[in-house]
Amino acid sequence: MAISIKITKTTHSRINTCDFNNIQFGTVFSDHMFVVDYEDGNWINPEILPFGPLSLSPSTFALHYGQAIFEGMKAYKNTNGEAQLFRPKDNIKRLNQSAKRMAMAELPEEIFMEGLKQLIAIDSNWIPTKSGSSLYIRPYMFATDEFVGVRPAKHFKFVIFTCPVNAYYPKPIRVVVEEKYVRAFDGGVGATKAAGNYGISMLPTYEANQKGFDQIIWTDGREHKYIEESGTMNVFFVIGDKVITPLLDGTILEGITRNSCIKLLQNKGYTVEERKISVDEIVDASNKGVLKDAFGTGTAAIVAKIAAINYKGVDYKLPNPEEREVSNYLYKTLGEIQTGLIPDNFNWIERVN
Ligand code: COI
Repeated sequence: MAISIKITKTTHSRINTCDFNNIQFGTVFSDHMFVVDYEDGNWINPEILPFGPLSLSPSTFALHYGQAIFEGMKAYKNTNGEAQLFRPKDNIKRLNQSAKRMAMAELPEEIFMEGLKQLIAIDSNWIPTKSGSSLYIRPYMFATDEFVGVRPAKHFKFVIFTCPVNAYYPKPIRVVVEEKYVRAFDGGVGATKAAGNYGISMLPTYEANQKGFDQIIWTDGREHKYIEESGTMNVFFVIGDKVITPLLDGTILEGITRNSCIKLLQNKGYTVEERKISVDEIVDASNKGVLKDAFGTGTAAIVAKIAAINYKGVDYKLPNPEEREVSNYLYKTLGEIQTGLIPDNFNWIERVN
């Protein structure tokens, strides 16, 4: 299907005001955005236009009922200076899984890919080239019905905007095991990128920050016994020579970086176990000196090393981050694939042009 996108380019690019070496994550936005609306069962009026405010009725449905979902992805420049995306088709697949669970319209892959590629091509000068930096891409969808009353919405807006970014976490993070609040529960929306999953994390994360921690380790909603995620990331532990990550049982986001890490590790001969992992097992491994590594994975953070895990007031320390085999291997290799420094043996890269 050929998608025809109306394009209006800015006459006032802001690119010369951007100091690419000093960007605080998520604060600088590129020149353009992609917008498409859903009405009467069809996606209509796909458009690329200058980044700017959306005009919304105060009765906009998503603002009171939270029918809103998003994705996170990144574009890079390869060694020839060409723009490329990392696993974009996995993002549209996951967006539509989120849409289904939230009773929202699904977006055809062709519209997503065409809008995305044309947007990145137009703003390709905004893709930073410094090691560790990239163009973060934020696709999202929300219900636009002007309506009060609870039933699935019938109108949606899908938007993509982008921001040049450097590292999400400048240094290894200190995390605390959460025993009061929960992020997700059986039958809920933990496996989706529903906006509400992030909304409910604000207070617990703020409280953890106040106590000096960078992030939370979320535990299961029944007993606070099993580890689920870390902040907005999936989480991995290396115990002895095994790499362990919580299995996807409906409460955990199916991370694209998580999946890439599993594939890279298996390809290198590591044993990766996707299974329930209890906080007690981590404490025990740390006490026995066999907890070799712990890290979060996500699009924004890529691989974020965990410096220490706090549980019931005790800090369980980990080996020196610089000497960790698994997290260092993953961070380096993912970066090399994403920027074309090594071959893309998994077919993860999609060129923009
Ligand atoms: C991502 O890793 O891309 C996320 O969605 C986390 C985000 C909230 C910064």
